[in-house]
Amino acid sequence: MKLSTRLMLYYLTATLLSLALVGFAILKAIEHYGMETVEEQLKTQSDSASVYVAQSLLLEKLGPQELAAIAPRLTGNLSAGSREIRIYDEQVQLLSAAVDGVQQTVQVEKPFTDTLTAALKGNYAYGIHNNDVYFASPIELQGAVIGVLEFVYPLHFLNQILTATQKVLYAGAVVFGILITILSIYIARKVVKPIKQLVEVTQRFARRDFTPVHLPRNDEIGQLSRSFSEMGSQLQDYIQRQRQFVANVSHELRTPLTAIKGYSEYLIDEVKGRADLEKAVYHLNNESTRLAKLVNELLFLSRVDARREPFYFSRVDFSLLMRETLEKLQIRTLKYEVRLQANLQPNLYIWADEEKITQAVMNLLDNAIKYSPPQGSVEIEWYLEGTRGILAIMDRGMGIPAEDLHKIFERFYRSSNTKAIGGTGLGLAITREIITAHKGSLDITNRPGGGTVVKITLPAV
Ligand SMILES: Nc1ncnc2c1ncn2[C@@H]1O[C@H](COP(=O)(O)OP(=O)(O)O)[C@@H](O)[C@H]1O
Ligand SMILES: [Mg+2]
Repeated sequence: MKLSTRLMLYYLTATLLSLALVGFAILKAIEHYGMETVEEQLKTQSDSASVYVAQSLLLEKLGPQELAAIAPRLTGNLSAGSREIRIYDEQVQLLSAAVDGVQQTVQVEKPFTDTLTAALKGNYAYGIHNNDVYFASPIELQGAVIGVLEFVYPLHFLNQILTATQKVLYAGAVVFGILITILSIYIARKVVKPIKQLVEVTQRFARRDFTPVHLPRNDEIGQLSRSFSEMGSQLQDYIQRQRQFVANVSHELRTPLTAIKGYSEYLIDEVKGRADLEKAVYHLNNESTRLAKLVNELLFLSRVDARREPFYFSRVDFSLLMRETLEKLQIRTLKYEVRLQANLQPNLYIWADEEKITQAVMNLLDNAIKYSPPQGSVEIEWYLEGTRGILAIMDRGMGIPAEDLHKIFERFYRSSNTKAIGGTGLGLAITREIITAHKGSLDITNRPGGGTVVKITLPAV
């Protein structure tokens, strides 16, 4: 999962959880506060109602037994104004029930006999059933409880408030959730952006582009970017010095090597007829040629690095150039017993430094032949694709291990499976420099079924 997505999810989860918690708390608080208000109200009402009942008995000079007689009148009066009131005697027998002044016959619900019994002991008690509160309070006459007065109070109003609040909260949560999502995406992006920039920098460094980074920030990311820049310039410096060293050494080697080569060539004639010396001189000559070639390659790369290598461009019939190059290679293919199969589209021109492009192609063909098994065959194609000429060299050789594919252009890098075959590891580095100078591209891939495909693309003219 991407860092920004993960950050966003964290924010979102945290905020939505707290939102849900706050919402739940608000609902609970309203419910609690509402219930308390209802209870308070019922308590006051039932207090005055019980007093009214007791006063009525006293005024009419009636005893507790006569409560049954006046109960219907009392409930009728007390229930006026959309209220429901019931009066019970001390045996919890219903004496009368009235709604808004009208007498009712009701069945007393079982669970509330408990509430009524509690009230008989002189306490307030209530229970909730089917969204109604059954609030019971004692009726006291001269210090003794003689019955119970019960208010039935519908809770639907409180429920309405709760449902309305719930709706508001849900709507709020949706709106807030959307806002929070947008905000967290924004924040996550903002946090991750400099990290992404640093990732790009490291990828750039891997491609040997050490241009410094400047993230104008005073935080850890800013520090990191400064460290990266510092590291880049040190690497740059190191590579520069290493190249300079190679250039200096190559340069110093050139003069003595020329002398050695000159003398060894001179000696060839001098030792003719002396078998032991002939062999030594042959090797001397061979090795100094090889060394001179290596030194020349290194000097070439140094000059390219310093942009001092001149390229002489002209319009070149690359089809013809390829044909001639392949002919020149015949001897080498005989030695390796490798067959070259060429399919060249004729009269396809490019803008090129003839000598250098030949060297580049030679390097590639040399690899294809060298890394092919005996009796192997190498296919060569040159054709136009759009405005670009494509040269494909396909062999059925040992191929290149996938983990080495991106390293083989490095100077001196040789893949582990080719260590037994001679080479310097400079061929591809040189070839790439040449192709780049021709505004072309060089691609090496493994060939399905084994072997290697090398593709050069060059602008056709
Ligand atoms: N056609 C090929 N088949 C297999 N491996 C190849 C081929 N071309 C290049 N390579 C690998 O790339 C490495 C670098 O090639 P190069 O720069 O020409 O150096 P060299 O040929 O001197 O070893 C080789 O050592 C080899 O491991
Ligand atoms: Mg090579």
